[in-house]
Amino acid sequence: MVNMPRVPLISLLLFFSIISMDLAGPAKRTLHYEEQCKNQNWTTMYLRADGSNDTLHYLWDFGGKPSILMALTSPSATLNITCEDFLQRKINSVVFSENPNYTVGFILNKIIEFNDVNDTAVINLDNVANINFLMPEFFHWSRKYISMFDDSFGLDMEGNSYNDTAMNITRHGSIKLSVKYFAALKDYKENIEYFKNIIIQRHRSNERTLF
Ligand SMILES: *[C@@H]1O[C@H](CO)[C@@H](O)[C@H](O)[C@H]1NC(C)=O
Ligand SMILES: *[C@@H]1O[C@H](CO)[C@@H](O)[C@H](O)[C@H]1NC(C)=O
Ligand SMILES: *[C@@H]1O[C@H](CO)[C@@H](O)[C@H](O)[C@H]1NC(C)=O
Ligand SMILES: *[C@@H]1O[C@H](CO)[C@@H](O)[C@H](O)[C@H]1NC(C)=O
Ligand SMILES: *[C@@H]1O[C@H](CO)[C@@H](O)[C@H](O)[C@H]1NC(C)=O
Ligand SMILES: *[C@@H]1O[C@H](CO)[C@@H](O)[C@H](O)[C@H]1NC(C)=O
Ligand SMILES: *[C@@H]1O[C@H](CO)[C@@H](O)[C@H](O)[C@H]1NC(C)=O
Repeated sequence: MVNMPRVPLISLLLFFSIISMDLAGPAKRTLHYEEQCKNQNWTTMYLRADGSNDTLHYLWDFGGKPSILMALTSPSATLNITCEDFLQRKINSVVFSENPNYTVGFILNKIIEFNDVNDTAVINLDNVANINFLMPEFFHWSRKYISMFDDSFGLDMEGNSYNDTAMNITRHGSIKLSVKYFAALKDYKENIEYFKNIIIQRHRSNERTLF
């Protein structure tokens, strides 16, 4: 990796969409969010969406690898984070007062960086010289924007100053990551499909400062 050729530009925009699972139709949910384990180098947002018969919990963490935990519980369940343990990645640092009915987690493990020589936005896996893997935890993530309306919540994060000291890889570009929650969707399966989608788009602006 250290000796990868220096391709001129690559920039990615990752877009995560997180959609609610409304198991019983378009029920109204009350949203509540709070930052957890406040720390200048760390963003952990907790979103709670209370419906009449169940509660959805989301934990979006940008400490190391960006990750999302989602859980469905009864409305009476509460989340308890033990911050010291959480920051050290210990198991059982996040517990619910009652066993959740359902949990799912996503972790962004790798970011593919590629030189889009033909301007097609398609990664050509045959040409490995144009592809590089970056580890999301070596970006410095900062919070750019939080939006909260009646039935939606969004968080925009930006990763800068990529610095993998072990491999001696640095980047000057930035990467944007946007997570959204909408309470108003209905179909469970459709939403899960949406949930799985990570759309990688080209960054069309002039902010091409990599390398
Ligand atoms: C909550 O449960 C009650 C009783 O089972 C049911 O009548 C109602 O439709 C449920 N509400 C929602 C939003 O699922
Ligand atoms: C945050 O990061 C900066 C620079 O990387 C470091 O100097 C500082 O000690 C960190 N602060 C905390 C609370 O971890
Ligand atoms: C949260 O967890 C910690 C550690 O397990 C425990 O000491 C504390 O009492 C819990 N708090 C609540 C409100 O359950
Ligand atoms: C969650 O589990 C509890 C206990 O097992 C059950 O009473 C409840 O109906 C479940 N809720 C949903 C939304 O599945
Ligand atoms: C770009 O297009 C040329 C001509 O079609 C092709 O030979 C080349 O492999 C393409 N390069 C990449 C990286 O896709
Ligand atoms: C990367 O981190 C190392 C160790 O903290 C530091 O010496 C180096 O200057 C950093 N490089 C950049 C480009 O920030
Ligand atoms: C790290 O990379 C920079 C630029 O590629 C190079 O100048 C420097 O010598 C490298 N340092 C180490 C310790 O390999």
